[in-house]
Order: sequence, then C-alpha cells, then structure tokens
Amino acid sequence: MTTRHFLSTQDWSRAELDALLAQAAAFKRSRAGSQLAGKSIALLFFNPSMRTRTSFELGAFQLGGHAIVLQPGKDAWPIEFEVGTVMDGEAEEHVAEVARVLSRYVDLIGVRAFPKFQDWSVDREDRVIHAFAKHSTVPVINMETITHPMQELAHIQALWQHFGGATPGEALRGRKYVLTWTYHPKPLNTAVANSALQIATRYGMDVTLLCPTEDYLLDPRYMEFAKQNVADNGGSLTISHDPASAYRGAHVVYAKSWGALPYFGRWADEKPIRDAHKHFIVDEAKMALTDHGVFSHCLPLRRNVKATDAVMDSPACIAIDEAENRLHVQKAVMAQLAAQAGNRE
Ligand code: CP
Repeated sequence: MTTRHFLSTQDWSRAELDALLAQAAAFKRSRAGSQLAGKSIALLFFNPSMRTRTSFELGAFQLGGHAIVLQPGKDAWPIEFEVGTVMDGEAEEHVAEVARVLSRYVDLIGVRAFPKFQDWSVDREDRVIHAFAKHSTVPVINMETITHPMQELAHIQALWQHFGGATPGEALRGRKYVLTWTYHPKPLNTAVANSALQIATRYGMDVTLLCPTEDYLLDPRYMEFAKQNVADNGGSLTISHDPASAYRGAHVVYAKSWGALPYFGRWADEKPIRDAHKHFIVDEAKMALTDHGVFSHCLPLRRNVKATDAVMDSPACIAIDEAENRLHVQKAVMAQLAAQAGNRE
C-alpha cells in the first residue's frame, strides 16, 4: 500500500480539506480524544519553533499519543541528504537510514526544514522533506519547508470561525483577500506566502497579492497553483504594488514578509529595495480602508515593523485564534493519517 503523506494542501481534495477542518472544529469544541492511543510521532526540527512544536506535542498528548522531538545536528546526529555522496563531511548518517529506522519506531513523522537561503533553484526542490517522504514507510507531515500547510488549515479555520457558515467554502467564497508583503530586517522564507496564496485561491476568494515590485512575486509553481485554483474554484487573482487600492474594500488582510527570489543568496543587493518599502507595514490607516476587514499573521511577528501595536491589539486581529487553531488542525491531520495508516503489527 502506498503511504499517503501531508506535504501540501494541493495534494488533498477540497472535500478532504473540508473534512479535516470539520474535525478540527470538533476538536476545538472538545479537546480530548483517543485517536492516537498507543501511537507516536517523531517531530524533526531543523529550524526553531514555538507554536509548531508546542501544538504538535500537545496535540499528540491530547489524543492519547506520544511525541518525540529531535533536532538533527543538535540533539540527534546530523543527516546527509545527497544521493551517492561520500559522507566525509559533518553528517553522520543518511536520510535513507534515519527515515527507515524512525518508521520502525513511530507511526508518523513531522519535518520542519527551511530553505538554506543561498540558491533558490536548490531550495525550491524541497529535498529534505521529499527525502523523508521517499524513504519513510509511515506518513510524513510538513511542519514548514517551502510551504506551511498546517498554517494554511489554521488560517482557514480562523476565517471560517470569524465569518461563520456551514462550511469554510460557504464562509469564504467571494471574500476580498489581500496577501500583503511587509518589511522585515532580514529576508524571510516564502513558505507562508506560498501557502496563503494557494489556500486563499483554493477557497474561492478574490485574492490580491500586494508586494513592492515584480521582484517579490512568488515562485512560478505557486503562482500557477493559484491560477489553477481560481480556474477550478472561482474567485480571482490580482497582483498589486499599491497598498491603498489593494486594501480598499478588503475582508481579510494577511501579512507576511519574504525575500525577493531574484536576489536569493545576494541579500545585500536586495536590502536597499526592501528598506525602501517599510511603509508596507499594516497600520490603522490601511485597515480603515477595508470593509471591516480582519487581520492575521502566522506569527512570530515583529510589532511596529510588520504591523503596528494598534492593529495587533485591535478586535480585527485574529492571529491568536489562528495560532490556537494550529493545535486543532494538526490533531485532525494526525488522526486522519494515523487512521489511514492503520495499526502496526
Ligand atoms: N507559525 C509558526 O509556524 O510558528 P513557529 O515558527 O513558532 O512554529
């Protein structure tokens, strides 16, 4: 039997995503369950985390399971991912062994592996998680690589909760959604931006990608996913470099900072462009242009750099709801994947 992973929401049908979100809503109403009784998950963090680690560990516990956190290169051996390489560098073992050994111990594997930020043509292949998916015999969950599918589900759950409706699709179809780039002193991962673009178009919203210049457009793979999602689900996709027109009449403002892909690995060259767009900060004046719009962000967020204190502390901010929902959606995903995989002998 082929192992089914959760690497991208694009691999899951709208009906399947809706079912996961319905289960997440049930977990929000009642946290305890036994769906992971006797089961375990290994959580591999190649990068730091606050929300993801806490919510996965706690979620496994609340469903009767057990989570084991590993940080390769820190408290676990450094791992090699190249195929056919002579391993005479830092890595002590190959992912081919790590994934297969963990698969003998645990029922699920979560992986967080950010880009290396040197060569996008390499990073866009998402080699770490694909190597785990290839060699693992248990389901692998993307805990953020070059997309962040768990954040996508938590975001949609927060919007569904805010707007109401029998289903997320009913709540969101036709809403005006702005994904805005914001300033940050460092170039950041495009993962959440890629994710927001694909899930907002998946749910039939009228999506505006607001960014300083063409250089900040997202990888063609995600731009194409968004166009296909619009064709399949309705809604629209617009590119804007003008904050005032993008914000006007918006129902949702979702903010994220990301590095410009044409400057990938040449960040000193990108910095003056980024520094010239600090005015992309989400503030009260921009939010006043919306149609009673809500604001959210995946967190962590630098206050008064990406969004002002006034926006973060306003009733329009649903970022804390979204962060809470990470717990519920991940429990739904873990329960679903564990049920699909069945019981080990
Ligand atoms: N949003 C999110 O993934 O948070 P952490 O980086 O703290 O896990």
